[in-house]
Amino acid sequence: MAIPAIGPARIPIIGLGTWDLRGRTCARVVEQALRLGYRHVDTAELYDNEGEVGAGLRASGIARDEVFVTTKVWPSHFAARDLERSAKESLTRLRLAHVDLLLLHWPNPHIPLSETLGALCKVKRMGLAHHIGISNFTVALIEQAVKLADELVCNQVEMHPFLDQSKVIAACRAHRIAVVAYSPIARGGVKNHALLGRIGKAHGKTAAQVSLRFLVQQGIAVIPRTSRVERLSENLAIFDFELSQAEMREIAGLANRDGRIVDYAFSGSPKWD
Ligand SMILES: NC(=O)c1ccc[n+]([C@@H]2O[C@H](COP(=O)([O-])OP(=O)(O)OC[C@H]3O[C@@H](n4cnc5c(N)ncnc54)[C@H](OP(=O)(O)O)[C@@H]3O)[C@@H](O)[C@H]2O)c1
Repeated sequence: MAIPAIGPARIPIIGLGTWDLRGRTCARVVEQALRLGYRHVDTAELYDNEGEVGAGLRASGIARDEVFVTTKVWPSHFAARDLERSAKESLTRLRLAHVDLLLLHWPNPHIPLSETLGALCKVKRMGLAHHIGISNFTVALIEQAVKLADELVCNQVEMHPFLDQSKVIAACRAHRIAVVAYSPIARGGVKNHALLGRIGKAHGKTAAQVSLRFLVQQGIAVIPRTSRVERLSENLAIFDFELSQAEMREIAGLANRDGRIVDYAFSGSPKWD
């Protein structure tokens, strides 16, 4: 099955999240995911698993150019020289010549965005990343960022049926920035939800599949994480059914402004490491 892709970077609309996957489990899950048909893997320097992600990629036997690999620079490395070094170190750990997408992991209010985006664009020009983007950027920060760099292709943000991100989605669309949803099954929180379960039952699907389909059907990419091989298949099986307009509206009705799971703001000083 060919997985649909979104935006100018042609990001496969489903990928494997790897936060919290470590060691042999991480390498095994990445390998299995690619064998099952995933073609997009999300990691970050923060996750301390880039080496295992690279090992899983090689063990899968899937050609490098068929897999979309994303990693992220942690905000303590947003000064120009640090960012370039961070990108090179990520590639060394991954044992790759380039990543497909390099993201700024969280905004860092202590370092001018112009400096960080200048460095990110340079890393792209050097060929270390084919595409660049941002993560956890608010509407105001998106507007600042696009004035400084016109080549941002992605904003990766928390998104699932319980969180209203409509303003961020609209801002990204206005600037042709693809949205990638992290925590797309609310860290497993959708599993026992009555409405999602009922809609899923009508389609012979699980609540988790409904949550992923809800996002994908809006043209949003999803990167669910699992440590269980059987769930890799479950999360990928979202392309053989369609939610009706009425079901989409019902699910959208679950969203609220307090539905955020990842409540974090980077507050380290420029020297923090
Ligand atoms: N940019 C950022 O700041 C940022 C922040 C957070 C996450 N992310 C990225 O986004 C990825 C996904 O987000 P996430 O890891 O926070 O949460 P998630 O993918 O929404 O949920 C993962 C949790 O759901 C469970 N799960 C997976 N598939 C399931 C299914 N079909 N049914 C029921 N439970 C299921 C997993 O448990 P099992 O392992 O037991 O299956 C795991 O505990 C991360 O791994 C990371 O790559 C990025």
